[in-house]
Amino acid sequence: MIDSQGRTIDYLRISVTDRCNLRCVYCMPEEGIVPMAHNEILTYEELERICACAAKLGIRKLKLTGGEPLVRLGIVDLVRRLKAVEGIEQVTMTTNGVLLGEAASSLATAGLDGINVSIDTLDRQEFARITRRDELPQVLGGINSALEAGLRVKINCVPTRQADPDGLLKIAAIAKEKPVQVRFIEMMPIGLGERFEGLPEEKLKACMEERFGKLLPCSDRLGNGPAVYYSLKGFAGHIGFISAVTEKFCGGCNRVRLTASGFLKLCLHYDRGIDLRAPLRSGMDDIELLRLLERAIAQKPAAHHFEQAEVAHRELHSMAQIGG
Ligand code: 5AD
Ligand code: SF4
Repeated sequence: MIDSQGRTIDYLRISVTDRCNLRCVYCMPEEGIVPMAHNEILTYEELERICACAAKLGIRKLKLTGGEPLVRLGIVDLVRRLKAVEGIEQVTMTTNGVLLGEAASSLATAGLDGINVSIDTLDRQEFARITRRDELPQVLGGINSALEAGLRVKINCVPTRQADPDGLLKIAAIAKEKPVQVRFIEMMPIGLGERFEGLPEEKLKACMEERFGKLLPCSDRLGNGPAVYYSLKGFAGHIGFISAVTEKFCGGCNRVRLTASGFLKLCLHYDRGIDLRAPLRSGMDDIELLRLLERAIAQKPAAHHFEQAEVAHRELHSMAQIGG
């Protein structure tokens, strides 16, 4: 559907759980967050119903996120069910990759259209420092299994200002050998991310050109979202940059988000939105649900204001609760 700013909203990101098997320093505290109780989390039936209504309003693409979506039991079955929803053209997932090795082929069979794997370093010790878990080999194995299963793979890397440039170039080089898109995502001041400074895109691009030659802008759009992609000579895949803070792309925003507890979030930066869980559980019918969704989406904020220290209704939850 079209929102008040004239933007087409056709993409819904769904956090299926706030639990995670990693503890990335910019996302979760060491001790984890108090997870939602099971009955607070939307059931698969509820998710299916919301997606069916959202599809009637023009949502075409779904992304399953977390926390870590692969820790939720039965997630493969959810993929299959959401793929069958009328109007939904694409279901993808963002994962930390730890459990991907075992899940990849069943996800592919269930019809998953692509998978984004988060990885900030290829150095095992550095990985264990950032995620507080020694799981790098599992993640790398997961990426290989996903490629073997024929899934479209993207790699998401969120470098901090202190990140070793050489290490980032190694991540970029995954796209040399493999047909994957490696995207560098600017750290956003959300949750614990506020305590970290991201690496400016320009700096990263300069390192990359020095090592790999000129970054050639891609003419065709490669994704659903705000990534700007480049080709490099001799690379099988592409390099992308997502810079929400320095290259504000709100004017082209196409998405809304659903938290695991059923809160429809209209913009990553604000806590504004509506709760869908209470009305769903109190017996709201599909037509009312459709109207509720429509009214909410129409109120999507025009833009984030990450550049301002204090804004009204600022989001205070962690990325694991929102789903990124
Ligand atoms: N800014 C940008 N990206 C973040 N992620 C988690 N927290 C932040 C943040 N503050 C990323 C993870 C993962 C995705 C789900 O969100 O690294 O790639
Ligand atoms: Fe888990 Fe992702 Fe948060 Fe890391 S960034 S702790 S993988 S939810």
